[in-house]
Amino acid sequence: MTISNADELAGLREIGGIVARVLRAMGRALAPGMTTAELDAIGRGLLDADGARSAPEISYGFPGAACISVNEEVAHGIPGARVIAAGDLVNIDVSAEKNGLFADTGASFAVPPVSREVKALCRHGKRALWEGIRAVRSGQRLNEIGRRIERLAGRQGYMLVRNLASHGVGRALHEAPGEIPTWYEPGDRRVMHEGLVFTIEPFLSTAADRVEVADDGWTLHTDPGVRTVQYEHTVVATRRGPLVLTTAA
Ligand code: CO
Ligand code: CO
Repeated sequence: MTISNADELAGLREIGGIVARVLRAMGRALAPGMTTAELDAIGRGLLDADGARSAPEISYGFPGAACISVNEEVAHGIPGARVIAAGDLVNIDVSAEKNGLFADTGASFAVPPVSREVKALCRHGKRALWEGIRAVRSGQRLNEIGRRIERLAGRQGYMLVRNLASHGVGRALHEAPGEIPTWYEPGDRRVMHEGLVFTIEPFLSTAADRVEVADDGWTLHTDPGVRTVQYEHTVVATRRGPLVLTTAA
């Protein structure tokens, strides 16, 4: 969506704060021995308490409140009986709606003991997100975001998953201006206009540039052994630069 007044901005800040706090709480609750369904129940309780609804559930009938993806699962993992183990890399993606407004955030959490390889991947995954965020400014080309992220990934020797993109958000979980590549698309001539609301969510990987859909019809995964992280914020383009909506107070 494109923000046109202060009420819309306030509403987006509210739902942005909610998903950020839910993500943070789920990350803190994450522990070996718990199932992803138990972790999801914590998120659902917090969304309920704040009067928010799971966006993937109401938008697509996703069977869970949050997407929880473990190790070779990269995104859209269904909460269930999978037990979190020491050393797992767990992505939690929380998107929700309140009063008709949507926000979307996600992060990968490494369960100790964490290998040096995974520690570095997480660090660079966060850097890749912020490198993209710094490119946000109204009047700027949208593809500047992917250009910067791709440069960082390349320098650090990582791959970017190229069949999962960032996207417009606000009045719906996925909306105009459609998919926004987090890799460089020289032919993409779209410009960020003032008030444009969208996500930035690079998927940085040790060895995968695409994900496959599992038999459950939801889970997106790579080959076993490949590690991929995603860090996501919902942002607004302004003439003064990025406004990040998904921050926890
Ligand atoms: Co998300
Ligand atoms: Co998203």
